[in-house]
Amino acid sequence: MKKLAAAVLLAATSTLSFAQTLVLKADRLIDVENGKLISNAVVVIEDDTIVAAGEARKVTFSKDSKIIELGDYTLLPGLMDMHVHLTSDATRHGYKRLEVSLPRAAITGVKHAKATIEAGFTTVRNVGAPGFADVALRDAINAGDVEGPRMFVAGPSLGVTGGHCDSNLLPYEYDNYSEGVADGPWEVRKKVRRNIKYGATVIKFCATGGVLSKGTKVGAQQYTFEEMQALIDEAHLRGLTVATHAHGTNGIKAAIKAGVDSVEHVSLLDDEAIALAKKHGTYFSMDIYVTEYILGEGEKAGILEESLNKERIVGKTQRENFKKAVDAGVNMVFGSDAGVYPHGDNPKQFSRMVQFGMTPMQAIQAATINPARLLKQEATLGSLEEGKLADIVAVPGNPMEDMSLMEKVGFVMKDGRIVKQYLM
Ligand code: ARG
Repeated sequence: MKKLAAAVLLAATSTLSFAQTLVLKADRLIDVENGKLISNAVVVIEDDTIVAAGEARKVTFSKDSKIIELGDYTLLPGLMDMHVHLTSDATRHGYKRLEVSLPRAAITGVKHAKATIEAGFTTVRNVGAPGFADVALRDAINAGDVEGPRMFVAGPSLGVTGGHCDSNLLPYEYDNYSEGVADGPWEVRKKVRRNIKYGATVIKFCATGGVLSKGTKVGAQQYTFEEMQALIDEAHLRGLTVATHAHGTNGIKAAIKAGVDSVEHVSLLDDEAIALAKKHGTYFSMDIYVTEYILGEGEKAGILEESLNKERIVGKTQRENFKKAVDAGVNMVFGSDAGVYPHGDNPKQFSRMVQFGMTPMQAIQAATINPARLLKQEATLGSLEEGKLADIVAVPGNPMEDMSLMEKVGFVMKDGRIVKQYLM
């Protein structure tokens, strides 16, 4: 691959609509619906929509279309990360996080949103943000004020008093707790309603303890089955999907039985958890890259010693269990937990997904068509097909042969508008 010019052409953030038909040509395209690599490919775009895509000889377009020749690149659907925290800063963990005000977190989110879309992620699910900072960020992106991915947002995560989704850093005289704390079936229903009222489009709750929370046991279940059922029922009544943080085996299984749409982390799963996920069609979002950052950079970033100790066990087990889930055919989605590690580094997880048990095609499907289905957005997102929104990325060379090329996204289009284009 020839050395790319350092300059990045960034299109203006104002809405640029293409009256003219736009044609992208590249040596390859990934058809994620059929799991096929297509050579000599073309995608035809009108306004924000794909009107044709496939092998060049089968696709026609008008002579006065604007053509962009990408050459030795592979076209892919815009990537989708189902587990990010755009308003969290990876360099501030533990007590350092207490220094960050809500408005400050929202402003940091602007920078993170830009880094995320430039890395190729045109859609994210933001699974937890204090103060509805994620709602504000989404609205600013949708209004064209700032650059960033399409966001599905949870607002504050729901959790039990003193659980992983509470904040447990200060002693009781400060009377500090997270706004998503709710105990009991009616309290959780009320929190779901409140989150929807203030703009949430997905619901996130914590079913077990976690790594980064002070004083919680990773393996211990934190909501009763009854509470989970009420929470999930309330969200489903309102047409929202539900994601749950769960490392521990019992919490994973209870959440699946209660009807959760996706389980996050899923570190300590067992065969029964896999069987339940298959039976219920539950998605697993396993963040198998982040352990490298936590154990490598975590201490400097303020991660507590007790969390580092938890991570040493969880990270390793999660990677082993990832393969079991993949081999069993569980629905898998790409979820990174970016925010714990730097935004924009999301694609580093692709090579690990292949290293720990997926085929390259499965890893790409996990970040495209599978999340589109999880979010019930497959009519408009997730693949390069006629009628879908023109969310398109391109990577140099062939990622089927080298997954680390996913870290080199050189072209990004969202809604038919070019967000990033290296000089090619
Ligand atoms: N937010 C998660 C937690 O605190 C991060 C877990 C990261 N570790 C892992 N191996 N995936 O529990």
